[in-house]
Amino acid sequence: MSTSTHIYFLHLKKVSRRQFLSHTGMLAGGMYPAMLAMGMLHKAPVKNLSLDGESNGKHVIILGAGLAGLSAAYELMKKGYQCTILEARNRVGGRCWSVRNGSSNIEVGAQEKSATFDDGLYFNAGPSRIPHHHQLTLHYCKELKVPIEVYNNVNESAYYFSEGNGKLSNKKIRVREIHNDVRGYMNELLAKAFDQNKLDAAMTKEDAQKVIEYLRAEGGLDIDKLYKASARRGYINAPGAGEKAGSIADPYQLHDIISSGLMDPDFYNVAEYTYELQMSMFQAKGGMDMIAKAFEKQVGTIIRFNAEVSSVKNTENGVNIIYKDKTGEHTINADLCICTIPLPVLSNIDHNFSSDVSRAIDYISYIPTGKIGLQFKRRFWEEDENIYGGITHTNNDLTQIFYPSYDYLSNKGILIGYYNFNDKAKRVGELSFKQREQLALEKGALIHPQYLKEFESSFSVSWHKTKYNLGGWALYSEEERQTVYKALLKPDKQVYFAGEHLTYLNAWMAGAFESARNVVQQLHQRVQA
Ligand code: ALA
Repeated sequence: MSTSTHIYFLHLKKVSRRQFLSHTGMLAGGMYPAMLAMGMLHKAPVKNLSLDGESNGKHVIILGAGLAGLSAAYELMKKGYQCTILEARNRVGGRCWSVRNGSSNIEVGAQEKSATFDDGLYFNAGPSRIPHHHQLTLHYCKELKVPIEVYNNVNESAYYFSEGNGKLSNKKIRVREIHNDVRGYMNELLAKAFDQNKLDAAMTKEDAQKVIEYLRAEGGLDIDKLYKASARRGYINAPGAGEKAGSIADPYQLHDIISSGLMDPDFYNVAEYTYELQMSMFQAKGGMDMIAKAFEKQVGTIIRFNAEVSSVKNTENGVNIIYKDKTGEHTINADLCICTIPLPVLSNIDHNFSSDVSRAIDYISYIPTGKIGLQFKRRFWEEDENIYGGITHTNNDLTQIFYPSYDYLSNKGILIGYYNFNDKAKRVGELSFKQREQLALEKGALIHPQYLKEFESSFSVSWHKTKYNLGGWALYSEEERQTVYKALLKPDKQVYFAGEHLTYLNAWMAGAFESARNVVQQLHQRVQA
């Protein structure tokens, strides 16, 4: 995941720091609207693509009806380009896919698998969350009238579950208990260090006093700067009416937390701290693929489904594509091409690209990743355990459990029983669908024994084994960013490459959109020239 640092000021028109600062007094309290009024900011989240000039009747063939292909076609068609999309599947969206009753998938070496879920229930097998600063994603939701709702990515009420030998191992522990205990102990340690006059040597007495007050507040420390638990970590008996003051338990011992693995990387909070995963986050109502479907409605009949591309060739002045569908093999010629096919798939397609481009396509690796949706008769995580959305973390092959952020308090629900990466995803991906279900239920039941009684059906996706994807998303080292990555940023003659893999927004829908726009702009400029 990238740790890009888009900041507010990137959207500013050129204005001197002094000019800017001189306005900030007047802006205080209403900074954003005031900046908008001054023409210093684009109106968020709307960010229309404006292209000058004409399409000159050019025909662009787009490979893939995922978000990059769909949005490229949508923008090009606004300018009057003739577009054709070839899509290997019988649906749009690619990885932007919500699994509902009847959804099906093909994994390499397995029979096609169909989901049997109740109508109205779904889980997002691909993207499930939209960061609040992914303006282009939000822009298209707004422009195409796709309703969004809050996606609860952070939930103190969910659990940590650490398999191991510690005193706190092999039991579910509320995130809020560990968070507050660890925060308490760390702040107590720091406060003690201040007392020993070591850390505050370089500070004024007043500053040091402020820091200590801060540490007390941050850690929930008592007057003696000791951590002795607080209501922040929850209650054994909740407060209520009359004499019910509520009671809190003693904190876990720091040694037990550490020796139980609860301070190991599997339980670091850094995911929540990353720019992309900070609240607020959003999802499309009714399934993330509502976004893809909204584009499909706009671009209409230009999509040829079940069209499996076998050859992409530059010709003297255009492109020649060969594809196969249910009626046989077809050839199609066009002026230009935008290829959004995931690289591990493109790598197996015949082409006549330059050696640099060819090497990049073969070289760039994608992450192995998988998810399983589990439908339950009852939303026991809400009814019995007060968990509404959010994530439970584990150090076993499940990695995490995502609770649904929609239809709270309804009867049934689908949660994501695992969402794993790399070796864990590979291991689980090697299992049969039935074995994956068994694993998810067995490991999940250690946390939620209700699994065994309430389970109804499952559907799992291993993205690195999924036909037409063969991977989750592109991964780059610093060095690869300078070499193979760059080779695909330029067109190979008439063929442009687009998708999340050609951005620093890997694994995000915003990557697909940003890349598509980038390529549409380049292509249009060329047509003008
Ligand atoms: N964008 C991916 C996610 O939200 C990585 O999990």
